[in-house]
Amino acid sequence: MFSNDFPLIRTDFGHDFEWGVATAAYQIEGGYKEDGKGLSIWDTFSHTKKIKDGSNGDIACDFYHRYREDIALMYKMHIPNFRFSLSWSRIFPEGTGSPNQKGVDFYKRVIEACHEKGIAPWVTLYHWDLPQKLQDKGGWTNRNIINWFADYVDFCTRTFGDSVKKWMILNEPLAYTALGYMLGLHAPGKRGGKKFLKAAHHTTVCQGMGGKIAKGNVKNGEIGTTFSTTHVIPKNQKRKNIKAAGRIDAFLNRLYIEPMMGMGYPTDAWPWLKNIEKYIHSGDEELMTWDADFIGLQYYKREIAKKLFILPFLKAFIVPDKKREGDPLLTEMGWEVHPESFLKVLQRFGKYPKIKKIYVTENGAAFPDKVVNNRVHDTLRTEYIQNHLMQVYKAKQEKLPIKGYFIWTFMDNFEWREGYHPRFGIVHVDFKNQTRTLKDSGRWFQNFLEN
Ligand code: GCO
Repeated sequence: MFSNDFPLIRTDFGHDFEWGVATAAYQIEGGYKEDGKGLSIWDTFSHTKKIKDGSNGDIACDFYHRYREDIALMYKMHIPNFRFSLSWSRIFPEGTGSPNQKGVDFYKRVIEACHEKGIAPWVTLYHWDLPQKLQDKGGWTNRNIINWFADYVDFCTRTFGDSVKKWMILNEPLAYTALGYMLGLHAPGKRGGKKFLKAAHHTTVCQGMGGKIAKGNVKNGEIGTTFSTTHVIPKNQKRKNIKAAGRIDAFLNRLYIEPMMGMGYPTDAWPWLKNIEKYIHSGDEELMTWDADFIGLQYYKREIAKKLFILPFLKAFIVPDKKREGDPLLTEMGWEVHPESFLKVLQRFGKYPKIKKIYVTENGAAFPDKVVNNRVHDTLRTEYIQNHLMQVYKAKQEKLPIKGYFIWTFMDNFEWREGYHPRFGIVHVDFKNQTRTLKDSGRWFQNFLEN
């Protein structure tokens, strides 16, 4: 559907609607030990052959050296906002202690390059690349992370707070705690219920505390944090599957956002989560609660849940996307394309009483590209974006507070455990020579933003 005749124009979303592209440090920067950078858990994880194609982020998109050209390309594409993350171990090689001036200078140059082009920098403080030195002490499972993180946030927001006004504390806490500390699929590759619960609670404390520290340091700034979101439905109307869907929903959608809003952990729907209470110290509740200026919602797909008693923790199972009814279109990640569920997500979060503002901080898709005579054709990606934008438009018609939309992602990059195979970019990267080529989706976005 659509493509060249997408029926909406940019201003249909309002004149103050924020458009942008999103990236993350480890996925694009490379320069993994340059200029004094310390190793992160993703350096370690990828160097121990945990990535599907055997790759790593040592070079990635070489953004460390090519940021000027990349930001110039964003400018050419009329992209007004650029979301990127700071690599904690580039700034603090040991995680704590004295900062690495060369790492700080790198981000100063990136921020400056954005301002020179009139592009607003949107900075994520933590997008999964914990300093390895901190992981050696237990990482997110060690309660001291609360102090380490406080110092890190304080330093960054003081150092860059004059030139960066939009901040996100965490990127998708559920993803790094569940994949990294419960299932062992992402760095640091740890498994187990206890590790997960500790990491989850410390994350919740850091989220609220970090938000308040940033707010105190950044004058006239907007401080938020981002969440992965999905729409969960039961496989059928059997009571046991409805309850299973409730547990999956508590896990995937409610775990980090509700304690932040003072609603506590969602143990009503997910009784096993009560085990987290062991790790709550007195005073934590106050640290956890935070009145964020905005929340960043990130949506890719929906989930269908079913009870499965033998699975630990959740006793529920997600119906694999390819086995779902109606022969759904799947992305290269094997994810079902389901834009209608995006509207459900926007409606749901748009109605939480304490959410003031929502930016869609990530949405996009991996599809194979067709390269013909220096042109990169990616109709499915363009359609994915357009069909999801249509849902944003509908949500806005319902007066929900959706204030911006960022495409994941600017250019093809290191897709974590999947390596370089799935390509999410609207700009194609030839990893042999680092050539950037606008895909058709990028051209469409450029046009859309220009008009
Ligand atoms: C995410 C991440 C991105 C991923 C993207 C596609 O938050 O999950 O921010 O780093 O690359 O979601 O899987």
